[in-house]
Amino acid sequence: MSQRILITSALPYANGPLHFGHIAGAYLPGDCYARFQRLMGNDVLYLCGSDEHGVAITLSAEMAKRTPKEHVDLFHSINEAFFKQLEFSFDHYSRTTWPGHVPTTQEFFLDLQKKGFIEERTENHLYSESENRFLADRYVVGTCPKCGYEEARGDECQRCAASYEATDLKNPRSKLTGSPLVLRPSKHLYLRFDRFKEQLTDWIRQKNWKENVVNFAMRYIDDLKPRAITRDSTWGVPVPGYPDKVFYVWFDAPIGYVSAAKEWAQKNHQPDRWKDYWLDPKTKLVHFIGKDNIPFHAVFFPAMLMGQDLPYKLPDEVPANEFYLLEGRQFSKSEGWTIDLETFFTRYTADQIRYAIAANAPETSDSEFSWKDFQNRCNAELLGKLGNFVNRVLVFTAQQANSHIPARHELQEVDQQFLHQMKLLVDSAEQSYAHFKLRKASQTLMELAQLGNVYFDAKKPWQLAKNPAHRHELETVLSLCIECIKNLALVASPIIPASAQKIWKMLGCSGELAKGSWQKIAHETLPANQKLNPPEILFRKVEDAEIEEQIALLGKKMAKTQEKPMSTATYEPLKSTITYEQFQPLDLRVGQVLEAVKVPKSKKLLKLLIDLGFEKRTVVSGIALSYEPEQLIGRKVVLIANLAPATIMGIESQGMILAAGHENLLELPQIQNLPPGSVVA
Ligand code: MF3
Ligand code: ZN
Repeated sequence: MSQRILITSALPYANGPLHFGHIAGAYLPGDCYARFQRLMGNDVLYLCGSDEHGVAITLSAEMAKRTPKEHVDLFHSINEAFFKQLEFSFDHYSRTTWPGHVPTTQEFFLDLQKKGFIEERTENHLYSESENRFLADRYVVGTCPKCGYEEARGDECQRCAASYEATDLKNPRSKLTGSPLVLRPSKHLYLRFDRFKEQLTDWIRQKNWKENVVNFAMRYIDDLKPRAITRDSTWGVPVPGYPDKVFYVWFDAPIGYVSAAKEWAQKNHQPDRWKDYWLDPKTKLVHFIGKDNIPFHAVFFPAMLMGQDLPYKLPDEVPANEFYLLEGRQFSKSEGWTIDLETFFTRYTADQIRYAIAANAPETSDSEFSWKDFQNRCNAELLGKLGNFVNRVLVFTAQQANSHIPARHELQEVDQQFLHQMKLLVDSAEQSYAHFKLRKASQTLMELAQLGNVYFDAKKPWQLAKNPAHRHELETVLSLCIECIKNLALVASPIIPASAQKIWKMLGCSGELAKGSWQKIAHETLPANQKLNPPEILFRKVEDAEIEEQIALLGKKMAKTQEKPMSTATYEPLKSTITYEQFQPLDLRVGQVLEAVKVPKSKKLLKLLIDLGFEKRTVVSGIALSYEPEQLIGRKVVLIANLAPATIMGIESQGMILAAGHENLLELPQIQNLPPGSVVA
């Protein structure tokens, strides 16, 4: 009865680091769903990867003075590493610059062309006379034809999520120079989406999707027009027969889901396995996306699939989520309205952030991350309800039952009730996961922990323990509480996999919980007399001071980015010129901070232990006013590695780390990807 399920999360553009706002929409819900379906014993293939083409990429690369390839290599690895840190369980993380993506995309095109869905048209396109070139979508800004937003992008509006042609914009201008654009004729290939109108309508009518998805899609279907699928660029998938053109990124990106399956199959030495997922009508195809991607996944890509010779699956579910904001505003890296993920991971665990997002996922309306909510989720829920229950039961069982699961004896009415309520909650969590209700599943997890706490308090096992006549009752209470902990581990596993696994191990269970079976774990009682492992602390308390510091930082960063440049009077005068030969003896290296502590009796100094890869160094650094020691652990720094040692406050400092300084503030440079020991020059 195992079902084959192909799950995708929208391929993120490799043109910047991901932030929590992205994670809440298309990613965490997808990962929890994939983890849940694996526990259900289904044959899951969960795919994602980098979306690496398109003018948004060439534009950002141009602005960052990198080649497009350097640019996507950088962000592909940053984003892939970030997903790993957040414990994502992709079966494969691909990228659209994978060479196998080219023939796959071209086949899609050739099939559509053969069936007469592709037309060559010469139409007016936006041309920049000052830059001497046609400017495609993201190089253009203008006023949105749907909502009037004046800074709308050339292909989709970031305010109202409308998708259109750049020529539909009012008052189009060049994104790079701000100069006005003119219309000039140019030849492009158009996909006749209008010819899929009926087929799309019939198909979508049978779907039982969220109302916002169906309504959004129907608006597009009503108004389907042929759309240009080519661009004048050299960065992208080449268009067969048109040497100067590449495909529009939204043509090739969703085909990336097919290429990703092919790359996965090849990697596993079963090159045809992708067909089991993409070409078998029994497969269930689920696309997790943010709401801005609805037209592409519910209309345009399905039309492209309908136009193929191969019997491709059409999406069965498109659970699209709303936007996730930060303290009431959209995340914005450029305005400093964001959370530094590196810092985040030095202080908090993946499970803390996964739970906070899941509990507040933007399922039916926009929702937001706030530091106070985060603290409350961590302290009142994870620690106060879940962690506390697990800990009190296991510590007590260790004392009273010599760390073994006690036997169960005659059940009283309250025990029966407890078991019954537990079963209802586990079943309800199963339904929530199956129907994309991650918020509800998180809530149920906490209700289950609370049910356990209330039962434990009502039974007062610490009193039962005082009287040997109540030994059987005591054992039954503990046995039932351990049953509850087992269910908690199961229900928690898709959302907080690392903590769930820790609980699993504390219960004395072997192997990986994530590889177990939901039905079996839910329905089979753990064997009496199973040996428990020593209880460990699951969640750390998040202190008020940390949260206040984070909130202050957010405000400060905002204020700073809005600050005017320094006045000339405050600039340090430049030092006299040196030659390259004078600079060259300096050996600068990337190091990673392993330990950081305050130097006693000093306000400014921290003592750091820095890993250079080939050796470790102790360094004293004057950055204590700008960084808390724990903020630095794990962070990469640039070290003058061949500076003669110096003794500072009685400590030998073996080098010096570099920081930028302005007034009283110091800021460390960011090194994200390169390993300790790398040379800086
Ligand atoms: N890169 C797009 C975005 O971040 C999503 C692409 S999804 C795919 O909005 F289907 F095209 F792959
Ligand atoms: Zn708009």
